[in-house]
Amino acid sequence: MKEYEHLLSVQDLHTAFTTENGEVQAVNGVSFDLDEHKVLGIVGESGSGKSVTAYSVMQILAENGRIAGGRILYKGEDISKWDEKQMSGFRGRNCSIIFQDPMTSLNPVFSVGNQLMEAITLHTNKRGAAARARAVEMLELVGINEPEKRLKQYPFELSGGMRQRVMIAMALACEPDILIADEPTTALDVTIQAQILELMLDIQKKLGMAIIMVTHDLGVIAEMCDEIIVMYGGRVCERGTADEIFYNPKHEYTKGLLHSIPSVTGAREKLQPIEGTPINMLNMPKGCAFCPRCKEAMKICLEQVPEEIMINKDHAAACWINIRDMQAGAAQNSTKTADNNGAPEAAEGNEEVTSNG
Ligand SMILES: Nc1ncnc2c1ncn2[C@@H]1O[C@H](COP(=O)(O)OP(=O)(O)OP(=O)(O)O)[C@@H](O)[C@H]1O
Ligand code: SF4
Ligand SMILES: [Mg+2]
Repeated sequence: MKEYEHLLSVQDLHTAFTTENGEVQAVNGVSFDLDEHKVLGIVGESGSGKSVTAYSVMQILAENGRIAGGRILYKGEDISKWDEKQMSGFRGRNCSIIFQDPMTSLNPVFSVGNQLMEAITLHTNKRGAAARARAVEMLELVGINEPEKRLKQYPFELSGGMRQRVMIAMALACEPDILIADEPTTALDVTIQAQILELMLDIQKKLGMAIIMVTHDLGVIAEMCDEIIVMYGGRVCERGTADEIFYNPKHEYTKGLLHSIPSVTGAREKLQPIEGTPINMLNMPKGCAFCPRCKEAMKICLEQVPEEIMINKDHAAACWINIRDMQAGAAQNSTKTADNNGAPEAAEGNEEVTSNG
């Protein structure tokens, strides 16, 4: 019987970097759960803390970074407390990562076969001919033709799409429970992007691992995620099933993101970029991080960070508009049931602000 609730459970994660200009709180209270065989999308614009969240799980942060708080439970055990030796076992056997640019991850002076077989011998008990056979098998799995020939080739001899397939093969060599893909297709052209995502889903179905898909492009992962978390300024601003996020967005930033991508339904609409610049993590707003760019911002948004509330059982968001609506709904209900003892007080701070700067 399973003795843990989730395969991976990230709880109130805080990750900080020490810089010359001060402490950067890159991840500020992020929580999510990932279950076996599920695909979780982490979406947000550049600098929102997606990669730092992923790197915190694997403990591959830059030297000036540290996990400053929270828990990362893998099968119920808090791995944020593990030492480097334990973590290197975790990275080898339990969790693998694919980076955005395969050229920076593949070593240009070693052949594909050399690198693939090294990954296999490092993380499995296969050696020599068995490791080679496994390398061929992995290349076939990721749809590379003439695998024997490819083993002898060097990364520069392969196309971008093929290099990314090799990276996927390497990441899967140890059959991890969790595969983290950090913008795996951003460096590729659109048709190859679609092929690689399809391949990942196909392999996920065959091997059954869970995937964390990190991307700035909601459109790209629309169809493959069971759940999506949307990040802004190092926090989760909205989470839910892919359908809820797409068809019932409840945070102003998510709505902006959806308006800025071509319609998933194919309808022709003018794309609207989100105005303003991403926040400076060294100078975070006091209230909602999205406030300086939000057209719906209210006075309270400037002052207080909105708490996450459940919209329904599959969906939660951290936006004052939902809190206001919920309070208004509750007030209306209690007015209906009250014995004419006077209306309840209106929720505080709901006046709209005139400036959103
Ligand atoms: N080594 C570091 N030192 C200082 N700040 C850092 C460091 N690494 C990341 N950060 C900061 O942490 C924040 C989150 O970075 P992160 O790489 O997670 O963004 P991201 O959401 O993955 O963006 P992108 O889409 O550009 O990859 C950024 O503001 C970034 O500047
Ligand atoms: S909390 Fe306020 S500022 Fe933030 S997204 Fe909601 S309305 Fe906009
Ligand atoms: Mg990133």
